[in-house]
Order: sequence, then C-alpha cells, then structure tokens
Amino acid sequence: MPKQIHLNLFEMNCVSHITHGMWTHPDNTRERFNDIEFWTELARLLEHATFDAMFIADVIGAYDVFRGGPETSLVEGMQIPSNDPLMIIPAMAAVTRNLGFAATFSTTYEPPFAFARRMSTLDHLTKGRVGWNIVTSYLPNAARNFGYDDEVDHDHRYEIADEYLEVLYKLWEGSWDDDAVLADKDRRVYADPARVRYINHASEYYRVAGPHLCEPSRQRTPLLYQAGVSDAGRAFAGKHAEAIFMGGSSFAQVRSYVADVRQVARSHGRDPGDIKFLPGANIIVGRTDDEVAKKVAEYRRLRSIDGYLAHSSSPVDWTTYDRSEPVDAIVAGLGKQAAQFRRYLVPGLTVGQLLDDLGGLGRPFSVVGTPKVVVDEMERWIDEADVDGFNVVQYLTPGTALDVAELIIPELRRRGLFRTSYADGETLRERMQGRPRLAGSHPGARFRDPAALVGGQVSDRQLARAASAHG
Ligand SMILES: Cc1cc2nc3c(=O)[nH]c(=O)nc-3n(C[C@H](O)[C@H](O)[C@H](O)COP(=O)(O)O)c2cc1C
Repeated sequence: MPKQIHLNLFEMNCVSHITHGMWTHPDNTRERFNDIEFWTELARLLEHATFDAMFIADVIGAYDVFRGGPETSLVEGMQIPSNDPLMIIPAMAAVTRNLGFAATFSTTYEPPFAFARRMSTLDHLTKGRVGWNIVTSYLPNAARNFGYDDEVDHDHRYEIADEYLEVLYKLWEGSWDDDAVLADKDRRVYADPARVRYINHASEYYRVAGPHLCEPSRQRTPLLYQAGVSDAGRAFAGKHAEAIFMGGSSFAQVRSYVADVRQVARSHGRDPGDIKFLPGANIIVGRTDDEVAKKVAEYRRLRSIDGYLAHSSSPVDWTTYDRSEPVDAIVAGLGKQAAQFRRYLVPGLTVGQLLDDLGGLGRPFSVVGTPKVVVDEMERWIDEADVDGFNVVQYLTPGTALDVAELIIPELRRRGLFRTSYADGETLRERMQGRPRLAGSHPGARFRDPAALVGGQVSDRQLARAASAHG
C-alpha cells in the first residue's frame, strides 16, 4: 500500500490570512469570519471530504513595520482584524465527529498554566481531536502588547519555549494518573487524591505548583505541530514536534530540511518517521486547462502587492521604485537593513520582477493544473522530498476546499493515496501518528513517571549548562 498522505486546510481567524487581496473576489466569503456559521459550514465541508484537520494560524500583534504603521494591514484586512484561534474549535467540534483542529499558540508571552488548562478542555470537548502549533512569535508589535519594549531575542525565545513545554508535559502527562478518576457514586469519591499530584516545577522562567486542573483527556498532550527553520528552531522541532508545517523556497531546500530535522529527532532517540512533514501547498486546480488559466488570471488580477509587502514586514516600500530598477543596486544602498534582502540578490532581478513574484505562486509547493497534473506533483514530493502531506493554502473560501474535495481527493483516492473514510472516533494523534499518546521515546513521555516530577525541577538546559561549566 502506498504511503497515505495527510491533508490539512490552512486557516486563520481573520479576513486575509496569506493570499492577500483575494478576499475581494465575489465568491469569497471570508468577511463572514466573525460568524460562527462561517466556521461550522467550513468544518462540515472538510469533514465530508475526510481532511485530517484544519490548521489555524495566529499572531498576537499587528504587522506595522511596512510603511511604519498598521495602516496597510488594516486596509488589506491583513491578519487584522483577527480573532482568537482556540474559541472557534468547540463550535466546529459540535458539528463534526472526526475532523481534527490544530491551533497556534505562542510560548513567549503568556505563562503555561492557563494554556495547559485551555488545551485540555479542548481535548475533552473534541474527544481528542486537537493539536497545538507551537510558535515563539515574531512581531515587534506582539512584544509591545505584552509589556516588552521589543521582541525577546530569537534564540532566547526557543529557550523559554523549551521550559514551557517541560511545564506542560508535567501537567498533561504526569499530574494525574490514568486511573485517578473513579467517579464512584456509591463510595462518594470522584477522584482518588493518591493518584493526583503537584508538579512543583521551579526553574529559570516558570514556577508552577499544579496539580493540573483538568482530569486526563484522551490525548493528554495535544498533537504537537511546529515550524522552526533556524538552527534553534530545527533543534526544537526535532525534539518536540510530531508534525511540522513548513514553507521553504525550493524543492531542494525542503528535502534537505526534512532530512535534517529527521536527523535531529534521531539524535534525541526518537523514530525519525514519528515526525510528519506538511508543506504549505498553493494549488490552483480546474477541470480543464482553460478553466485553470482563467482562475490563475483572476487570482493574479486580485492579488494585493501591498498586502504581501505588509505581511513580509518589509522596511522597504518597493512600490515607490521604478519597475525597471535593478534590485541589487537598491539593496546595496540600504546599509544595515540590506542583510534581510540577501535572498533577493538574484543577478539582473528588477523591482517589477520582485513584485510580480510576490504571492506564493512559483514558490514550493505550488502547482497549477488539472487534477492529474496536481496529484502527479504531490506524489513526486511524497516520494522524493519525503514529506507526509500538505497544508492547503486557500485562495477562496470555501472555493479552494471545495476544489480539493471535488477534484484532488478523488484523484488521490484513485491512486490509493488517501482514505475513503475516517476510522470513526479516532483521535488526531491516532490519525497522524498511529498511536493514542506521545511515543515512549518522545521527551514529554518521561514525565509520566512520578519520579520525574519529584526533584525533576532542573531542566535539560540547566543540566547542559552545568555540564559544560564543569568542562
Ligand atoms: C508555513 C508556516 C506557518 C507559520 N505560521 C505561524 C503562525 O501562525 N504564527 C506564528 O507566530 N508563526 C508562524 N510561523 C513562523 C514559525 O513559527 C517560525 O517562527 C518560523 O518558521 C521561523 O522559524 P525560526 O524562528 O526557527 O527561524 C509559521 C511558519 C511557517 C513556515
């Protein structure tokens, strides 16, 4: 049987998430994102098509670097206004039985205890269908919303994240035994106090006593997604992630990233196959080449260059230059800012070409064509880049999900690459990992042992520092 692919739909609780300008398309319903029905209808559609999950991105600040303020983002509806990603999940769970929901939450600004409780609540309400996309947040405005003058330094954010995860594992995996809840009406005992414990975590960033306020949910730890690209990000992903949602600028880069992170996982004693890689997928599909060409032309016409520039937090307003100007000459005059534009230093690239390239198409994974063309390319990526599935970028809501449901999924099924129905009642981890709980080799699993809590207040990082200090 060929490797089965996983499909997520890439979402965000806002108008313009990642295909900027497209919200103005007459068939796009994204301006309804404040309505609960917008979400329940989309969830039903995804469940009908047997998608694995909806993946919900999030940021906790406005993009206000481009043109020195949030104005462009506001005009474009570009991730502002944006609503909470966790709160739409119970509504969608109530109208589905099997669809998973992976929501983004940052480890940098809010301490872990209340978040642990929110995720356990969601895991109970969804019967084990929830995942968490772990991010460390990158917007300067996010830092200013949570009491900082500027962003916490990049690698420092990953250090905080590592301890954040340790606290969560202690709460989710270790604080309550599987058989702690007796719910015994005759004996008048709900929970057995001998089987619930404090975690007494006290380390560099957090002091958390516990016990966890929620009884064990089906997955305990929600399925863990991550998307780290830097060295610190890869180290974190290889240690903690069970699924990785990824970008990348070329097929070769994606392939080497997958191999690299699988190697990090191996170095932590994990099975490298325990991480599922899901590149973001820009797919424009139609029944005929003519239909496809019309869609592409329409999307390119509606695309907002301002939206993409605001999203990239570009400190340079490329729209103020003549389209024929060479990019390298402009970058050379930028001084300190030049470093972030290194990837634009393609010999001969003009401002016009740079602007035309914005918007996803042309970047991996991007494919435009009839179902056969699209699925051929998906298969190539599964086989040659060792990825496990795709996170589908939406051009239209609900149009893109409908296209995938009506045109792509039937072709995948014909080739034996995608399920024809759900295993009813399975959890998100069972679907993505083939197991109900974190693998025994996952670093979170060791906190199931109460001995790892008692006196376990010294983090790996502190031990590593102590070891290196002693030569
Ligand atoms: C496809 C993709 C989606 C992402 N979605 C989010 C998101 O919703 N919220 C967020 O704060 N960061 C998001 N990120 C950023 C990552 O969390 C991370 O900061 C980024 O990949 C850079 O990794 P690095 O910090 O290790 O270099 C996303 C990254 C990628 C590649």
